[in-house]
Amino acid sequence: MHRALPGFREFYPADCALRNHIFATFRRVVRRFGFEEFDGPTLEPLELFTEKSGQEIASQLFHFEDRGGRAVALRPEMTPTLARMVGARAAGLKRPMRWSNVGEAFRYERPQKGRLRSFYQMNADLLGVEGAAADGELLLLLLSVLSEFGLTAEDFHVRIGDRCLWNLFLSQFSLDGVEPVLAAIDRMEREEGTRERLLALAPADGAAIWDGISVLRTCHGLDGLRQFFGQFAPLRERAEQRLADWEGLLECVAGAGFSPNVSVDLTVVRGLAYYTGFVFEAFERGGEGRALAGGGRYDDLVSKLAGTPLPAVGFAIGDVTLANLLVEKQLVPVYHPRPAVFVLWEGDRHREGLALVTELRRHGLAVLWDLSPVSRSLSKQMQRADRSGAIFSLFAAADGNGPVTLRHMESGEEEKMDRAAAISRLVECHRRPGFTGPDLRQDP
Ligand code: HAM
Repeated sequence: MHRALPGFREFYPADCALRNHIFATFRRVVRRFGFEEFDGPTLEPLELFTEKSGQEIASQLFHFEDRGGRAVALRPEMTPTLARMVGARAAGLKRPMRWSNVGEAFRYERPQKGRLRSFYQMNADLLGVEGAAADGELLLLLLSVLSEFGLTAEDFHVRIGDRCLWNLFLSQFSLDGVEPVLAAIDRMEREEGTRERLLALAPADGAAIWDGISVLRTCHGLDGLRQFFGQFAPLRERAEQRLADWEGLLECVAGAGFSPNVSVDLTVVRGLAYYTGFVFEAFERGGEGRALAGGGRYDDLVSKLAGTPLPAVGFAIGDVTLANLLVEKQLVPVYHPRPAVFVLWEGDRHREGLALVTELRRHGLAVLWDLSPVSRSLSKQMQRADRSGAIFSLFAAADGNGPVTLRHMESGEEEKMDRAAAISRLVECHRRPGFTGPDLRQDP
């Protein structure tokens, strides 16, 4: 018996319908924010991810040597590809760029609830704008997408952290680099031993860094942050400037009515190495689960990958945790695919019958007919029409241009009418919302 690989999913039609619903909802909302969709290769040069994404992702890559001896990797995320693409044409692209993508990503992680080896990400990135308003716009987009699914502040929250404030605090200490300290803070919520890790990284300052972290992790408002940074005279002015950015960001969120959905939380630093400013993660409220989405500002990545400086901020929503949450909250539309019409005809009228089928399909209707090689008696065809779940059946009488019988399957009501009138009636019904039931059709 063959099976799919661990951490890889098979999508049966109902699963695909849910996936399409998730993608369509995302696409609908990003359109309202003026985003354009782009795409890039699934297979990339290995170094695109080993150089800039950070240690954690580098250790999770699906990578191999291709037949030409190139070191390649399946993309674990979209951001480096986006940065390369935008950087390569930066001079010719209209700024700011609001770009979105829906695509598959691969990470060799231990499969568990909410974590797989292949998953979909819905990315949205805004490039070419500095300042908190752009971060605010992206946060509003994330909050709007999650709300569009019917999720409320009781279901999820977005925690916002800030690498600038961490960099400011850590600038007081003599460290080889802040990255290992930020990585230790990132792991703090999941693993014990942060203090020991810090002491190993900075024997002279580890204890003072730990003390600062212990206070900062409990600051959930700007007043607490102001008080904390107020203690350090050399940092005070820069901290005030940064807190003004924070005020701008929270103002955006408040203006859109999303304050109950967000919290200030400096323990969010993010595991990816390229972030430079505000960072944020969305979680199920009260859940222990993995993040629904994550993102932040990354002002140096485009210049590092493509040599063109370009400020950027973005996020990605994962489909796995989101689908789990929608199922748990019963926010998944019912999957009920229904053909519009089943066309039946007398056995020897194949040509006329199929001409009618084809004409209805040209009008955009989902049309079935009896494919069975034997026994195409009318009563058998009617049984098959019944089983198909079609909303109407249409019986084409012997004469190709003669009247047809339109039957509403559920009520059994029948009407004999001329062929053109039946087609217009069906097309008209098809246009009315709800005609095919609460199914999971894609947006047009
Ligand atoms: P990330 O936090 O690594 O960020 O991934 C974003 C989301 O993808 C996560 O919150 C999670 O929902 C989903 N995800 C990640 N790994 C897995 C997995 N193994 N199985 C299932 N879902 C997973 C990024 O990838 C950044 N590139 C986001 C970004 C875009 N930053 C700026 N622009």
